Amino acid sequence: MKTDMKKLESAELKIGKKILNLDVYEGALEERCIDISKLRQETGYITYDPGFGNTGIASSDITFVDGEKGILLHRGYQIEDLAANCTFIEVAYLLIFGKLPNQEERLAFSASLNANSMLHEDMRQFFSNYPEHSHPMAVLSAMVVSLSTFYPEIEDESESIHLTVTRLLSKMRTIAAFSYKKSIGEPVRQPSWKYRYCENFLSMMFKSPVNNYQIDPIVERALNLFLVLHADHEQNCSTTVARAVCSSGANLYASIASGVCALWGPLHGGANQGVIEMLEKILAGGIKPSDIIEAAKRKDSKLRLMGFGHRVYKTYDPRAKLAKQSCVDLLNHLGMQDDPLLDIAMELEQRALTDDYFIEKHLYPNVDFYTGIAYRAMGIPKNMFTVMFAIGRLPGWIAHWLEMKADREQRIVRPRQIYVGKNVLPFVKIENR
Ligand code: ACO
Repeated sequence: MKTDMKKLESAELKIGKKILNLDVYEGALEERCIDISKLRQETGYITYDPGFGNTGIASSDITFVDGEKGILLHRGYQIEDLAANCTFIEVAYLLIFGKLPNQEERLAFSASLNANSMLHEDMRQFFSNYPEHSHPMAVLSAMVVSLSTFYPEIEDESESIHLTVTRLLSKMRTIAAFSYKKSIGEPVRQPSWKYRYCENFLSMMFKSPVNNYQIDPIVERALNLFLVLHADHEQNCSTTVARAVCSSGANLYASIASGVCALWGPLHGGANQGVIEMLEKILAGGIKPSDIIEAAKRKDSKLRLMGFGHRVYKTYDPRAKLAKQSCVDLLNHLGMQDDPLLDIAMELEQRALTDDYFIEKHLYPNVDFYTGIAYRAMGIPKNMFTVMFAIGRLPGWIAHWLEMKADREQRIVRPRQIYVGKNVLPFVKIENR
């Protein structure tokens, strides 16, 4: 809210003979904005900003990103510290409740996650009605919005938000694993009280009545890290979509389901699947790394170097650095250090980072560049990669939804446009057309 920002000197906007004084504000870490909320009312003009690259849609105390310096903070904590010291569940707690949990709070949170981890039996039946090769992102979004039919209490706010939030966090992981089991035609596996959050996910994904899958603590740790790296990233596309849906008064499940859909696209969360498909194509001999780089540079080509570039980061994405190191460590641990996809990824990165086009446009690897290689090494199929991103991003979506609900300054999200279509036409009856 404006009251959370520092008011600076005002800015002057001159349109024709009219001069408008606009308030200027500063956030906690020197980001500045010009308040244009009265612009149309006072001048008749609106701003034009496709993709909202210059538009601050809210003030927020959840996450800070400095894209020039490569800094990412959640509630004031550096991503490097959180990645080294916290489980995903602790970071989720931090984002949603605003503070790191103490021992007692963490145990209570874990107990609640455990108690809410199963799916309603009727909901489990839904899985059998999807076609066999359904994309798990479609199943995930549909299942998340379906939760609102099983837990309608959300509409009248008659249960604690703590319970709603824990239920969603816990069940999302179960839904994701069930959708995978469905896609390979195996019976689903229920969560267990014996396991921590990530262990439970690995168990539901990979245990079956006919194997002896053992949960590797190093894999569990890597999974925790990847989820932590995805936990929030302020006003990204999916979060903004979830916030926009929230702004209309829609419930938490509906808002999160819309966030899942927005994440699916290849320019956002779907990029992790796109990266592996690109690497596999190179491995199969379909195209050389140098050709990919050249094609990505061409104005007339639709191809982009997947996992490269970011709206905010104009330097190396700090999450990509951590993901790359963890990916290399994981592959070493699993005896997969010679994974040809890792070699290809490193070659592509090297070529791009020394190529004038990528240097001039400040294009660096983003969080998605190395995560897919690690997920693949864990045994997670590529159509589940974006689901992994969604599980990771869930605490961020929830935190933004709660923040938006509490922000009295927020209004329904409703941008304007500049109409460039036809002026009034004489109506022609169908028989005369
Ligand atoms: N490969 C080649 N060229 C690129 C790439 C890329 N990966 N990314 C950006 N560019 C070029 C654009 O063509 C554009 O060139 P121009 O100025 O000559 O027109 C310039 O760099 C700026 O790019 P924009 O698309 O305007 O940047 P924007 O901020 O709108 O898009 C995005 C950011 C979508 C991430 C883009 O970099 C991209 O498509 N990357 C590949 C997909 C990807 O990895 N997405 C994951 C993003 S991170 C996340 O969601 C977790």
